[in-house]
Amino acid sequence: MTSQEIRKRFLDFFAKRNHAILDSASLITADDPKATNATLFNTAGMQPLIPFLMGESHSKGSRLASSQKCVRTGDLEEVGDNTHATFFEMLGNWSLGDYFKEDAITWSWQFLTDKEEGLGLDPNRLYVTVFAGNDMVPKDTEAVEIWKQFIPEHRIYYRDSKDNWWTAGANSPAGPSTEMFYDLTGELGDLSAKEFEQADEDQKLVEIWNDVFMAYKLEGGEIVGELPQKNVDTGAGLERVAAVMQGTTNIFDTDLFVPLLDILKQHARNYNERHARIIADHIKTAVFLINDGVVISNTGRGYVLRRILRRAYNSLEAIECSEKIIPELIHAVVLMYKDLYFKDVDEKKIAIKIKIVATEMDKIVKIIQRGVKIFKKLKDDPNTIVTGKFLMDLEQTQGLPLSMSQKLAKKFGIIISDEAIEDCKKIRREHQELSRKGAEKKFKGGLAEDTPKIRALHTATHLMLAGLRKELGDDVHQKGSNITEERTRFDFTYDEKVSRDILDKVEDYVNNAISTNAKMGVQLMDKNEAKNSDVVGSFWEKYPDTVKVWTISDSEGNIYSRELCGGPHVDELLQIAEFGTFKIKKEESSSAGVRRIKAILEK
Ligand code: ALA
Repeated sequence: MTSQEIRKRFLDFFAKRNHAILDSASLITADDPKATNATLFNTAGMQPLIPFLMGESHSKGSRLASSQKCVRTGDLEEVGDNTHATFFEMLGNWSLGDYFKEDAITWSWQFLTDKEEGLGLDPNRLYVTVFAGNDMVPKDTEAVEIWKQFIPEHRIYYRDSKDNWWTAGANSPAGPSTEMFYDLTGELGDLSAKEFEQADEDQKLVEIWNDVFMAYKLEGGEIVGELPQKNVDTGAGLERVAAVMQGTTNIFDTDLFVPLLDILKQHARNYNERHARIIADHIKTAVFLINDGVVISNTGRGYVLRRILRRAYNSLEAIECSEKIIPELIHAVVLMYKDLYFKDVDEKKIAIKIKIVATEMDKIVKIIQRGVKIFKKLKDDPNTIVTGKFLMDLEQTQGLPLSMSQKLAKKFGIIISDEAIEDCKKIRREHQELSRKGAEKKFKGGLAEDTPKIRALHTATHLMLAGLRKELGDDVHQKGSNITEERTRFDFTYDEKVSRDILDKVEDYVNNAISTNAKMGVQLMDKNEAKNSDVVGSFWEKYPDTVKVWTISDSEGNIYSRELCGGPHVDELLQIAEFGTFKIKKEESSSAGVRRIKAILEK
């Protein structure tokens, strides 16, 4: 069965059971301060539905289903094994306080096993897990009773919250789940609990569907109570279902990847399955991210995009395939998903996307080519000793990271001593320390002095940036700031004049946080971790490895602003209110692509 047919069957099955079919939301999560969790991308079908699972009413009703685009970049190292990809589609059906366990389980079973309407899977190859219970939530015997109508009890296994508890983050709806597994080998038969675990570990089983009974509310990772309604949230990874339906043991031998792998097979001089899978997956993800508006940058979503393109390039190199193949891969991705996700994408738009990816690849290629030249020359010089300082210079002046230098050295048979590597790292740390101090100094330059009023304007400026990004999008970044007793002056990237209407909204956003005395928190974080999460920041390179992250959130944990910053802030937002209301007085051009705002606190 083709993946297209699987998608269609799934949505038709639930449409017939009175579910409204939703289009996939963008991969980019809403930068809504009310969003209960702050991931960079939609990582599950339920993510765009969080407000509705929490109790808001949905215009399409209380039964919904969709095939949602998702990107997960948490397990990059696992991409290319049998079941992991960064881009995938999740088939899901939801009950927003409508049906609960009985219907959810019955329909899951019917869809999996029914030949006419569903997938027609052999019931003897299916297994089920249910929640074993914990201090707060009882063992799910109710789910077991329902499952027993369909599957013998000895094929139902209890698992704890590591496996059978689902939540989208520390502040999110959550609940116990029941998962369905399929025997890929067709030989497993009845399994004891221990054998079941082993078969799962050996990837002889694949988890193909997860029904979450989402009835609890989490805050700060703790259950704080029940949701106003009992929901069902289900998710079946299309790629995995396709693998099962197409009789393969891995998601890459399905029609969702084969066209891409075929291109790579044709052009690689040294084909390797794992690398080819990584390239296929990463280029696919890049196309989808760019299509949803992600722009390459050094932070946040743009950084993820850059990182996966670099990884794709490394794998292209490994299989000795020219990066000139990328346009062909991009075309193949668009073609594969044309009717679903690229309906409005014409040739011109495809050409633009290809150019974006190709430009970034070009940069990576040039850096490596320069590196090759340098190491070739070193090889020809018998007196060469590679020092830590030399490696650091390559990193700083040529953009050649240490890891790449090490790879090139190996290629050309040049020995780099452990001492040189340690030295390079030490020099790097020293540089970072210097620039941290520089940044701190520079920061003080941004604040004329450290007075209560200047602190107040500084915290308000964080809120303003978050408000601007909410209204104008993620391409808005800080370019500079200067804060005195009188005003904050703030430069940010944006191409056009910002209308008064938007400025008013930004003002409201700031003043709302202040007047409700939103919570001010500060946290020390690993820089890379911060960069890969939802933290907003500029000039990352100027910060040390451990950074301060300031978060302003409301009483329910919804985030107003979360920003990297070394400077002083108010302890409490009411301290800003003492100086009055936040007002944007002026918005003007500062330089090409940069706007400047002057804002004050006024009584
Ligand atoms: N939200 C659940 C999952 O992603 C269904 O597994």
